Amino acid sequence: MQFPDYRPRRLRKNELFRRLVRETTVTVDDLVAPLFICPGKRVRKPIQSMPGICQLSIDEAVKEVKSFHELGIPAVILFGIPEAKDESATGAFAREGIIQRAVREIKGKVPDLLVITDVCLCEYTSHGHCGILKKDNSVDNDLTLEVLAETALSHVQAGADLVAPSAMMDGQVGAIREALDEAGFEETPIMAYSAKYASSFYGPFREAAESAPKFGDRTSYQMDPGNSDEAMREISLDVSEGADIIMVKPALPYLDIIRRAKEEFDLPLAAYNVSGEYAMIKAAAQLGWLDGEKVMMESLTAIKRAGADIIITYFAPEAARIIRG
Ligand code: PBG
Repeated sequence: MQFPDYRPRRLRKNELFRRLVRETTVTVDDLVAPLFICPGKRVRKPIQSMPGICQLSIDEAVKEVKSFHELGIPAVILFGIPEAKDESATGAFAREGIIQRAVREIKGKVPDLLVITDVCLCEYTSHGHCGILKKDNSVDNDLTLEVLAETALSHVQAGADLVAPSAMMDGQVGAIREALDEAGFEETPIMAYSAKYASSFYGPFREAAESAPKFGDRTSYQMDPGNSDEAMREISLDVSEGADIIMVKPALPYLDIIRRAKEEFDLPLAAYNVSGEYAMIKAAAQLGWLDGEKVMMESLTAIKRAGADIIITYFAPEAARIIRG
């Protein structure tokens, strides 16, 4: 240390000093709120493992999005629970599918908020895998690409501002980019779930989205948790295929990957603070073992400090209320 009497505590003396020198502050602008859309009217079905989160019918989702807009949250990301599932995921790209209808309603009623759609097949396939299966039950990469492209296009035709492919198929960003460009949607950006790990932290989401695989797991398409270099290769591919925003998922157990992606790539970086991360904090807070609000804000700050420009989080409305004071 160059100063013999450097005393870091001088600048921690009170909250005014701490505010003055604080390097990272989470703002409402950083937050994206996920929503689970289900069939029906006036439905608010609570998710057991995600206290405070519900499956919402489209009319209820519109109300929720209005309240998010009032809080200043800039974007939502939608997940759909279709009426019926089948082997070929037809509900994913149907013109009158759950997401297509939800996007039209929400954009019609709350136009000043970005609607992002998750592009994946797991909620729409009867087997719960993220792609179309071959006879041997392995996922057919290239056949799935066609369905993902058709799905993304149907979302954009319904009015989605941004599509977010999350199926972890090789080439999915390129296939979607090509389909959007051909249809005249050159201006619609893609947020790529680039480094998406085969994580057990997605457990509560699969209850919420009713998308758990009926057999096997996702380890043949999602990434191995031990890998970091591979995450950089995945991100490079997505960038070369035309991704506008890249993503690391989950967030808290993968802060090193967020930091590395921030250093190696010059694109906006999103981090997905996933369902299991949310559930852990909520559970501990309910037991009185942790201060839920404080741990939430500390976690979001850590994700941003690691390098995330955008944080997708179920805490979005709660955090927004605290940030706004
Ligand atoms: C779709 C998808 C998943 C999540 C986001 N998109 C589930 C999965 O891959 O099994 C998980 C999000 C969360 O846990 O909050 N494939």
